[in-house]
Amino acid sequence: MSVLVAPSLLASDFANLEKEVKMLNESQADWLHIDIMDGVFVPNLSFGIPVTEAIKRHAKKPLDVHLMIVEPEKYVEAFHKAGAEVISVHIEACNHLHRNIQQIKALGCKAGVAVNPHTSIALLENIIQDIDVVCLMSVNPGFGGQKFIERTYEKVRVLKEMIRTSGSKALIEIDGGVNQHNAKSLMEAGADVLVAGNFVFSAANPKEVIAQLKAM
Ligand code: DX5
Ligand code: ZN
Repeated sequence: MSVLVAPSLLASDFANLEKEVKMLNESQADWLHIDIMDGVFVPNLSFGIPVTEAIKRHAKKPLDVHLMIVEPEKYVEAFHKAGAEVISVHIEACNHLHRNIQQIKALGCKAGVAVNPHTSIALLENIIQDIDVVCLMSVNPGFGGQKFIERTYEKVRVLKEMIRTSGSKALIEIDGGVNQHNAKSLMEAGADVLVAGNFVFSAANPKEVIAQLKAM
């Protein structure tokens, strides 16, 4: 299976969202990554449910919603209604992660757990068989355009081994600072999904950049 590419709309031109989504429809992108920030869990605000709905109206690919928010259980149903296919919550934001995951799955969505750079993969041991995606943060969440954290490679390898030995089917998604210098090594380490914001949207030809990632 070739790697899945999930461009992050956080780096897109918000004044031309319809155009950006249509460009992604025509590209080889697999998922549209939607970054939701609350200014509490992360020190930044992005956009919320109405904008997600607006993206969905034009999108021909699954919406991969990354909730960087506290108390995500209050909002997962609204994001499901807004059109999310994948919903990821942060392990650091959930006191009852198992319950939160069951809630997402009961809505018919794929359930993901996002993990900050400082968080040990070992903490996923008792949830890995229940989830569809691990969103491994390769930057500290809150902003696009940050530098990739090199320790991520080792975390991918540890996580891949945990997935293999547990019999889990979870996909490993890498989020933050993905570019032409690290994409291939990430895939070799075991990444299944690459999120890319600035690398895609700051390129002169975003569709070509997506095609390059797919071909790696
Ligand atoms: C960071 C977000 C990322 C971000 C990725 O908080 O979760 O999805 O938009 O953007 P780049 O690829 O520019 O690091
Ligand atoms: Zn993200």
